[in-house]
Amino acid sequence: MTVSTVPTTPFPDQKPGTSGLRKKVPVFQQPRYVENFVQAILDTVPDREGATLVVGGDGRYLNREVVQTTLRIAAANGIARALVGQGGLLSTPAASCVIRKAGAVGGIVLSASHNPGGPDGDFGIKFNAANGGPAPESVTEAIFARTRALTEYRIVEAPDLDLDRIGRARIGAMEVEIIDPVADYAALMREIVDFPAIRALFASGFRMRFDAMSAVTGPYARAILEGELGAPAGTVVNAEPKPDFGGHHPDPNPVHAHDLMALMLGPDAPDFGAASDGDGDRNMIVAPGRFVTPSDSLAILTAQARNAPGYAAGLAGVARSMPTSRAVDRVAAALGIRAYETPTGWKFFGNLLDAGLITLCGEESAGTGSNHVREKDGLWAVLLWLNILAATGRPAQDLVRDHWARFGRDYYARHDYEEVETEAANAVMEGLRSRLGCLPGQRVAGLTVAAADEFRYVDPVDGSVTERQGIRILFAEDARVVYRLSGTGTAGATLRVYIERYSADRLDAAVEEMLAPVVEAARALGAVAALTGREEPSVVT
Ligand code: G1P
Ligand code: ZN
Repeated sequence: MTVSTVPTTPFPDQKPGTSGLRKKVPVFQQPRYVENFVQAILDTVPDREGATLVVGGDGRYLNREVVQTTLRIAAANGIARALVGQGGLLSTPAASCVIRKAGAVGGIVLSASHNPGGPDGDFGIKFNAANGGPAPESVTEAIFARTRALTEYRIVEAPDLDLDRIGRARIGAMEVEIIDPVADYAALMREIVDFPAIRALFASGFRMRFDAMSAVTGPYARAILEGELGAPAGTVVNAEPKPDFGGHHPDPNPVHAHDLMALMLGPDAPDFGAASDGDGDRNMIVAPGRFVTPSDSLAILTAQARNAPGYAAGLAGVARSMPTSRAVDRVAAALGIRAYETPTGWKFFGNLLDAGLITLCGEESAGTGSNHVREKDGLWAVLLWLNILAATGRPAQDLVRDHWARFGRDYYARHDYEEVETEAANAVMEGLRSRLGCLPGQRVAGLTVAAADEFRYVDPVDGSVTERQGIRILFAEDARVVYRLSGTGTAGATLRVYIERYSADRLDAAVEEMLAPVVEAARALGAVAALTGREEPSVVT
């Protein structure tokens, strides 16, 4: 075997964001770009010598090439064994599952999540640690620092591996095992979710549609829903993972999953609809005639989790990202369990899960998860919903209505202003920040500001502090607006404005109508149009 040491110079822009390093494909195609970043990751894994590393991705454009490069670099850096999903595929939650099960030192996961793929789309590389979760900020900072100091990388010169053949191979001294990407994950689901109950539900004629959005969950959903649980063939649509996701935006929300929405809101809606994103960690839940917001879904799963074998003993606690609606807090209060509020991004849940402080967690951006892995998990959320529907015997739309009747309803919307000039987006945030002190008491759009602050998180487990995680404005009328800048965008800046309003008894009002004054207040307080030139958001979800 030949290990080459190749001189290199740093790229200035390899700073991981909310979820790894994400850039346009041509950026990753620059010579040495991938090599540098993977070397920097491995340099920050002190106990890599003789260790196992998991490698896989969501199948997007460049996935196979980067898997090959990653393996060659891993082999040159003392990794003894690599586990790779067949075809280079591993959904993000399955990668987390495999890392934990194999006792790996971590995993290199190739994905830009819900961002479009293809030659002009996005690509991404993230590192998950030995607990199966996204590298914490201390590690991503160390990786970034390393990318700035790199002078060489090490690589084994070897031909490409056949990624499609399950079995063992070698690169230099490293053993490579090509594994079935679904098997370990399916085994875990079987332990925590009541498969026999779901099988009986499908056998009784229950109909659903799962839209895999031409992304990685296709093979998982087919094997589990259609294969093991007996859902009729054709339940899973867009099940073939494609390098460009069929030209679509693999983001499971009402805008991008419009076919599923149209079906579920139409006269022939099946009993349940769901979708997942590019790398399989997000989920969308739709009842006949009704989209279930991710914030509501988290609250409902929390209220009903005991119906599943994995959670029969009850929940230790729950956590939600700060911009996620407060619906789950009401459930936690009723159950008498702790509710934590964390910054946006899955990595902040890791410590709480590892310390056993929480069992379920979720984000408004269609991410829901539990202590079974250390990532959000799209298909798991769908299976838990099915388990609950089977156990309660309630139609999905009634289950949602019952929940609101008990806890009240948090009307919710997110307004994204995409590809805004970075200076303009910063100006919105700066403007709000400078006025935080004088906002309380102000009247705007018929609402009264009750409190305004900038979210700062002190991790209850390790005491680490994360500053500037979004501006929160609370109104006396049980409404809230949150402003923050995206950490995953790849072009310009994305300003996210999260809008919500609670009602204990108005359960069936139109969302737009309920939120209209809050939207007006949000625009006025942020001076969004004046500073960004945008009258309307680019996407409302
Ligand atoms: C977005 C979501 C966030 C999620 C992240 C990764 O991050 O808002 O909840 O964890 O993608 O999927 P953002 O672009 O807002 O930083
Ligand atoms: Zn994702």
